[in-house]
Amino acid sequence: MIRLRSLRNSILCLVILIAGLLFINLFFGYSATQTANQPIRADRDEAIKKDKECDPQQSALIREEKCNSDWGKEMKCLREEEEVYFPFSFIKKKWDVTGKMAKDGKRFEMFTSYSKVRLPEGSYDSKGVFGHFASYSVESRDRVRCINAKTGIPMSTQWDEIPYYYPIQIAQFGLQHYSRLHSANFSKYEEVKVGAMTKEWKGSAAMADTNERLFWKDEQLGELVNITSTVASDALVLLNYIHEENSLCVWNDTVSNGKNNQLSYSYSLGSMQSEWRNVSRDVLVDVARAISSAEGKKKEDNVVMHPGDIRIVSVGFRGSCTVKRVIVQSNERHKESFLTAANWMLHNQDANGGWPVPVERAIADRQLVLPAGWYSAMGQGHAISLLTRAYWTTKNESYLEACAKSLALFEKLSKDGGVKNQLWGIDWYEEYPTNPGSFVLNGFMYSLLGLYDFSRIPSEEVSSASVREGISKAALLWSKGLDSLLTLLPLYDTGSGSIYDLRHIGLKSAPNLARWDYHAVHIYLLKWLVQITENQYLNEIADRWIGYAHGKRAKHN
Ligand SMILES: *[C@@H]1O[C@H](CO)[C@@H](O)[C@H](O)[C@H]1NC(C)=O
Ligand SMILES: *[C@@H]1O[C@H](CO)[C@@H](O)[C@H](O)[C@H]1NC(C)=O
Ligand SMILES: *[C@@H]1O[C@H](CO)[C@@H](O)[C@H](O)[C@H]1NC(C)=O
Ligand SMILES: *[C@@H]1O[C@H](CO)[C@@H](O)[C@H](O)[C@H]1NC(C)=O
Ligand SMILES: *[C@@H]1O[C@H](CO)[C@@H](O)[C@H](O)[C@H]1NC(C)=O
Repeated sequence: MIRLRSLRNSILCLVILIAGLLFINLFFGYSATQTANQPIRADRDEAIKKDKECDPQQSALIREEKCNSDWGKEMKCLREEEEVYFPFSFIKKKWDVTGKMAKDGKRFEMFTSYSKVRLPEGSYDSKGVFGHFASYSVESRDRVRCINAKTGIPMSTQWDEIPYYYPIQIAQFGLQHYSRLHSANFSKYEEVKVGAMTKEWKGSAAMADTNERLFWKDEQLGELVNITSTVASDALVLLNYIHEENSLCVWNDTVSNGKNNQLSYSYSLGSMQSEWRNVSRDVLVDVARAISSAEGKKKEDNVVMHPGDIRIVSVGFRGSCTVKRVIVQSNERHKESFLTAANWMLHNQDANGGWPVPVERAIADRQLVLPAGWYSAMGQGHAISLLTRAYWTTKNESYLEACAKSLALFEKLSKDGGVKNQLWGIDWYEEYPTNPGSFVLNGFMYSLLGLYDFSRIPSEEVSSASVREGISKAALLWSKGLDSLLTLLPLYDTGSGSIYDLRHIGLKSAPNLARWDYHAVHIYLLKWLVQITENQYLNEIADRWIGYAHGKRAKHN
């Protein structure tokens, strides 16, 4: 943490130089994915070669054969007596299965679902960790451009558009850090304080043995320092945190100076304020987001970094500023990140009690379009789960006032700007409040969890009448929603998997089957609701769906 005393009209920025095993790490990631795809064919070729070379008797038994499937294109198969072997690449595509060599390299394994089914641990507590969010890393998602240096809040983007605040992402960021704070696996806080001693503010002794520093001044660029690291493969990255309003969140300002480019990226701290402020940054995330921010990058180019990938070489200040000593270097700031997200919710709730999404959302080939400014029941529910936890942490009732205000949209139909839709008269809280309704299953269940979390606040603890009213309203919306789920859930069951949403009812189109990772999310959420409700019918469906992920199918007639 760095505290800065800002002075009007002086230009201030913070520079962090990082040396690390950047490129080695990137290269390693690349080679790892290569090998994951290769062994299938290599192994097969090897097996055929071996058969032919070493076992003439067996090679006579296995021979190539022409084959096709459903009157499709002709392929090469293998035949061994009565058994015929189709190419796995074909089977994989046709039946949406996945397969790879086992870790020990001794056998080939095929799976119906590429996504591992996980179940919630223990029992659910509205004050505790939120599902398995402790293992989330919102910061590493390809859709996250950067953690805004001015607000401390993640900003979302498709690769080339201007970053914006996406409420669902922000709530998940807050819930992730809350869950890590309350999870034994993630909350081993350690810190190092530097800067208490005057001598630490000059060339630091710690880096003298591995680095050489040369301080100099450039007419245009200002005060600079050249650093020569003795570790030759390290890449040196310069992160600038500058007082400037810039909607890009993070940008590349690498200057070419011959063959040695000094990688340099800037984060906007917003314009100068004449008050003290805390600046707290996750350097690992900032480096990864900076490198991932390049224009025209694709999903596969998303960079994720892990502890050990980088090392901080120095922290420097340019311009004139007053910095409160000391600077704290720590392994986490979960509580601060969580409260920053909760406070963002508090200060960005609009008059309707909602957190609008500032960009358009189009689904089903633009047959269903939500113009910018739409609300999501999932966003509302996530926000409530976050705000109630902020209440449990601080006991500040403002967080609950926001929860109470957020319920109005659950009672308003989507055509009137709310998040409620009805299917054959049955209420549904919409992740995407489209017309006709889309009835997304996972978003609905997340919104139920938010309502449940709010309903668990003990009324007698609360002084505000509107909050107490909100708590009973939340309990009502929760139980109504649960009834809807019990009624409509069979519609999401295909007999071999689950359906993502019910858009096909309104659009009269083919059903929108859930990908295996969403099928796993459905199972997790159902089991989560079973923990809360102990409803046996929900449990049966969840177990049946686990079966589907392992290749079981419902009986046919
Ligand atoms: C937490 O750590 C325990 C023991 O090391 C492990 O069994 C468990 O799976 C971990 N949980 C998570 C969420 O990582
Ligand atoms: C620092 O490095 C730059 C680029 O390599 C070079 O032009 C400059 O002369 C160096 N400054 C000093 C003081 O060595
Ligand atoms: C900065 O952080 C310190 C320590 O957590 C806290 O005491 C202080 O109030 C914070 N200041 C501001 C302006 O947020
Ligand atoms: C940053 O800009 C430099 C100079 O224009 C360019 O060489 C480099 O590829 C850019 N890096 C990224 C990650 O976009
Ligand atoms: C509760 O939070 C609000 C909004 O951030 C703040 O204005 C108020 O001072 C807080 N109340 C207490 C008792 O901390």
